[in-house]
Formats: sequence, C-alpha cells, structure tokens
Amino acid sequence: MAAFFRAGLFSVDGRVACVTGASSGLGRAIATALAEAGAKVVGVARRADALEDWRSEAGGETAAVPADISKPAVAAAIATRVSAPFGPPDILVNAAGLNNRQSADDVTIEGWRTTIDLNLAAPFFLARALIPAMRLNGWGRIVNVASLQSARAFPGGLAYGASKGGIAQLTRAMAEAWSRDGILVNALAPGFFPTELTEPVFDDPALAAKHAAQTCIGRNGALADLVGPALFLCSDAAGYVTGQILYVDGGYTAK
Ligand SMILES: NC(=O)c1ccc[n+]([C@@H]2O[C@H](COP(=O)([O-])OP(=O)(O)OC[C@H]3O[C@@H](n4cnc5c(N)ncnc54)[C@H](OP(=O)(O)O)[C@@H]3O)[C@@H](O)[C@H]2O)c1
Repeated sequence: MAAFFRAGLFSVDGRVACVTGASSGLGRAIATALAEAGAKVVGVARRADALEDWRSEAGGETAAVPADISKPAVAAAIATRVSAPFGPPDILVNAAGLNNRQSADDVTIEGWRTTIDLNLAAPFFLARALIPAMRLNGWGRIVNVASLQSARAFPGGLAYGASKGGIAQLTRAMAEAWSRDGILVNALAPGFFPTELTEPVFDDPALAAKHAAQTCIGRNGALADLVGPALFLCSDAAGYVTGQILYVDGGYTAK
C-alpha cells in the first residue's frame, strides 16, 4: 500500500523563521506557534519591550530584531540582522501592518505612503533580500498577510484596501518569480480577529456582532484559528501550493 503520510510532513522543526509584526496580534501568535512547533524564530517590530515579552511567552529558540520597516530600504537592509542569530531564514512571515482608517475624503499623502510602504513594499523588499539564501537551499516559504479588504471594500479602507488588494497580486507575482527555486509564496487572508489593529471594531460590540453574523461559522476569529493554516503554509505539506490567498475568515467571503 502506498504511504502518503510521512512523519514531518507538517513540521517546521529546525527551520529558521523570520516573523515581522511579532510584537502583537496575528504576527505574535504565528511567531509563538512556529517556536512552539520547533522553529528558531526571529521576531521583527519596532517595540523592543513587546518583542521581549513575546520571547518570554513563546519559549523555544527566539531572537528579537527591533526595527521600523516602513521604509523599503530599511526592510531590505534588515535581512542581515535577521540572519545573524540562527542563520538565514527558510521561512518569512510578513505580518507587520497598519490600518489608519482615513476616509476617502481625508486620506493624506503621508498616510497613504506609510500604509503602502509598510503593508505592501516591506514584504517584497524584505523577501527579496532573503531570497538568495533560500535559493541556495532550494527551499523557502513566504507567507504574506492579506485581508478581507483584498477582495472587499470597507469604510475608511482606501489606503489599507489598496495595500491589501496589492498584497494579493504581489503574492501571485512573487510565486511566479520564485516557485521554481523551491520558494513558495502564499498569503493568509484573515477575517476579523481581536488585535490592536481591530480595536475600533471590537470596542463596538454591535459592529463586532455584525461581522460575526456575516461569517458562515457565526463568530469572529480567535488567534488560535490561524495557527493550523499558517503552519501548513510553512511546511512541506504545502509543497504544491503557491500563489494562493487562503481565507481564514469563518466563511465571511463565502456568503
Ligand atoms: N486583526 C485582524 O482582524 C486582521 C485581519 C486581516 C488582516 N490583518 C493583518 O494582519 C497583520 C497583523 O495585524 P494585527 O491585526 O496583528 O495588528 P497589530 O496587533 O496592530 O500588529 C501589527 C504589528 O505590526 C508591527 N508594526 C507596525 N508598524 C511597524 C513598523 N513601521 N515597522 C515594524 N513593525 C511594525 C507592530 O509592532 P510595533 O508596534 O512594535 O512596531 C505589530 O507587531 C496586518 O498586516 C493586518 O493588516 C489583520
């Protein structure tokens, strides 16, 4: 009988992972899960104290690289720093992001630029700086973070929606560029999860309930809901999956 399952198929044990946005929310949950699953994890964010807090929570082998990656040149330049603690990353999770919720009539040039630079440019320029080492190994996994706003418009979502529509297409273009080198690029598209970024939603119980009702499952996301999909995309099990946007949204976009 053919053996399709093998031990380690879903494993990240021993891999080196870099997670941006590891100080908070979704990035922090994914960074913790990767460390719990045996990866050596380098977390990137601006707040050094919050990164140290994450490291205490995560246990395992972790390191912190405090940096503001909203400038694409800085995002590229930190490749050297994130490769220092454990060697070059095999896995990159681009979870740093912001949503300034400026309405269409009030979008500022600075607000637009910072959003596009952090949410869209940084994932590409950091990834590209890490590609040479992944290419040498013939193995890499890049996970971007898309959004319901990759496919839908929400109020105050001008710059954010543009960045998230962009990250969906960037994911396909990165997959087209690098998959033949063994570097697979996908995106997670979360529904509504309680984090610092979504405080304006979850601070408004009626709004949070409205979003929960829009899902097929009938509730908003919990951080643990992201762990399985994230680890899958980082593992050998996703070996023929690339250029895809995996909605982890309780069926929000199915309705
Ligand atoms: N929460 C949701 O429901 C949801 C849904 C769809 C998509 N997303 C996406 O998920 C990703 C994570 O968001 P979240 O909800 O987890 O929000 P969050 O809790 O606010 O986390 C954002 C992370 O980005 C980091 N960050 C922000 N600006 C940065 C900068 N200039 N340089 C480096 N790091 C920076 C923050 O760390 P520091 O402040 O320490 O720098 C923090 O770790 C974002 O891309 C967001 O668009 C979230």
